[in-house]
Amino acid sequence: MPTPVAPLPLTPSGESLGLHLLESAQAATGPKMRAQCERMPSRMAGLAGYHLGWLDERGGPAQGSMGKAARPALALASTRAAGGSASDGLGPAVAVELVHNFSLVHDDVIDRDELRRHRRALWAVFGLPSALLSGDALLALALRVLSEPTGDPPGRAVSVLCDAVLELVEGEAMDVSFEQRTDVTVAEYTAMAAAKTGALMGCSCALGALAGGADIEQAELLRAFGRHLGVAFQIVDDLLGILGDADATGKPVGGDIAARKKTLPVLAALASSTPQARALARVYASDTHLTGAELRHAAGLVTEAGGVQAARRTVRRELSLAFEVLGEAAATPAGRRDLTALAHVLTQRDH
Ligand code: FPP
Ligand code: MG
Repeated sequence: MPTPVAPLPLTPSGESLGLHLLESAQAATGPKMRAQCERMPSRMAGLAGYHLGWLDERGGPAQGSMGKAARPALALASTRAAGGSASDGLGPAVAVELVHNFSLVHDDVIDRDELRRHRRALWAVFGLPSALLSGDALLALALRVLSEPTGDPPGRAVSVLCDAVLELVEGEAMDVSFEQRTDVTVAEYTAMAAAKTGALMGCSCALGALAGGADIEQAELLRAFGRHLGVAFQIVDDLLGILGDADATGKPVGGDIAARKKTLPVLAALASSTPQARALARVYASDTHLTGAELRHAAGLVTEAGGVQAARRTVRRELSLAFEVLGEAAATPAGRRDLTALAHVLTQRDH
């Protein structure tokens, strides 16, 4: 039985609160992200401008996407949840989004993914050295934003962010190591997703909360909320990689199966002792290039072997855990409502 989804308020314009919060976070952080990137030396500023969508391949103006702003929205809502006003959380919101973009630029290099947000990935346009260096630059920029004077001592926030980056790179290393293995367990997957995606979402909430005046205990509870949400978000990402629509995701569908990624739906399907699991195991054991039809067939095997259903169950479980800790976090009613709305919209997305 699917868990019933609590009805969430609509904004005056009729859109869901979650979408509204994402758009507001984009509007609040976008100009600051751009201003920060434009303060970098010109080569790095140009590369960041391409990746973040305001420049085209030749450095002219463009209308590319900066992404959904999920992490800034979590940071800003966590600031409210701790009793602060949104502007208190703006620095952390920008910092976590810069870290997120550093990780995307490097991830596309690692996976040799050629498409990102409907455009050619940075490395595919400018080459590997530029992509590596601009990722490094975005990371340094994030640390600089966070250490800008705000009245609070920045030391704690910087160390919280650095811990998350260390965990993020460990999670990415685990993910890459899984490609060579045939015995990855669901528990190992969950640990990887918690590190690769949960760490930064948890950090977004913790940093936002600290900026809003949270004590350590409240910041830790909000971090736990973001971490569970991050695992759920990663599994939804895995599902979109199998079932999603390329027009919505801006990435080729089936890319994870083509790379023999051990995503949760695939691991659950492989563990199912069905004929489809055996057929899928043969696909994963081969190293031939898979055609579009073969990728669709493999995706069908994942669904028929129960992998999609199992992954959706895990999404619901992680969301329940997230809401449980949110309930303990003594969040303001508005903050709690906003974090709940974000958790729903981020796990019901199509891109
Ligand atoms: C998509 O976020 C990103 C994820 C689901 C996280 C995947 C994790 C990594 C890429 C970590 C890689 C780490 C290193 C160190 C290379 P999104 O849907 O919010 O993206 P958007 O900003 O485009 O909306
Ligand atoms: Mg990857």
